[in-house]
Amino acid sequence: MLYNTAPDALFVPQTAVDPLGFGKVAIVTGCASGIGLAVAQLLLAHQFQVCGLDVAEFDYALLREADHGRFHFTRGDLTKPGACEDGVRVCAAAFGSRVDVLVNVAGVMDNFSSADGVSDELWDKVMAVNLTVPVKMMRSVLPFMKAKKDGVIVNVASTAGTSGAVAGIAYTSSKHGLIGATKNVAWRFRNDGIRCNAVLPGAVASDIGKTIIAGRSQLWDSDAFAQIEPVHALQAQPSAAAPTITALEVAKTITFLVSDQARTINGVSLPVDKAWGAV
Ligand SMILES: NC(=O)c1ccc[n+]([C@@H]2O[C@H](COP(=O)([O-])OP(=O)(O)OC[C@H]3O[C@@H](n4cnc5c(N)ncnc54)[C@H](O)[C@@H]3O)[C@@H](O)[C@H]2O)c1
Repeated sequence: MLYNTAPDALFVPQTAVDPLGFGKVAIVTGCASGIGLAVAQLLLAHQFQVCGLDVAEFDYALLREADHGRFHFTRGDLTKPGACEDGVRVCAAAFGSRVDVLVNVAGVMDNFSSADGVSDELWDKVMAVNLTVPVKMMRSVLPFMKAKKDGVIVNVASTAGTSGAVAGIAYTSSKHGLIGATKNVAWRFRNDGIRCNAVLPGAVASDIGKTIIAGRSQLWDSDAFAQIEPVHALQAQPSAAAPTITALEVAKTITFLVSDQARTINGVSLPVDKAWGAV
């Protein structure tokens, strides 16, 4: 099923015991919507026990009833002092003292502002959610992974992690930083059985993606967005021939990286963007 190519077909396990997730614990940040929700749903379908963390409320109706018993949600702002450490502690208490997988998905977009206009407030918030939180989450799960000499981390970066032409300076810097953190963790812990990779989604049909596709907002830096809009137009306009990427498609790539199929893949930044990053 990992290779089911239907973009929105939800995974249905074929067997009672799925070796990918059976007996394993995964933590997913940003699980209440978009890519994080799709990752939580797909990992649950693969029989992982999943701890979801999000600042927004979680709607349990979005999960299959059969999966409720293997899902534990903690609501909280992960930028608050101690929140990442507490989230991991709660997870260890819920599902036993193990963390096999961490998927850092929580993130916020900026308002496209550039180096000449970004506010301190926006810079601090975007860097905190998109870079500091993932690093603190990795710091908190690494002791569990090192103890077992086994673990997989996937960080959700963005095309903005390698391109300077698709977002504002805060978002761009945070995602470039996240790729650096990914590579550093991958190299440092490569002999501890721990892998750490990043995915770089293009424009995804989630809350963040829809806001951009919807067009200009008064909250955006319009001069800066004018420089970026033509680049977005190369991908973000959905059409029958080239529809926008779905959250589930990104989740499937993440699930592949989590699986043993990817056990030699470590420290990569994998675009999930239908060649947008090749521009
Ligand atoms: N949508 C896109 O086009 C796109 C493209 C490339 C990368 N991404 C990245 O994918 C990730 C997921 O984004 P999405 O598109 O699913 O958007 P989304 O807004 O649907 O999901 C982001 C989630 O993160 C949560 N979150 C935000 N701040 C938080 C905090 N302080 N503490 C805890 N949770 C917090 C939100 O409540 C939300 O549920 C982000 O890191 C984003 O940068 C998105």
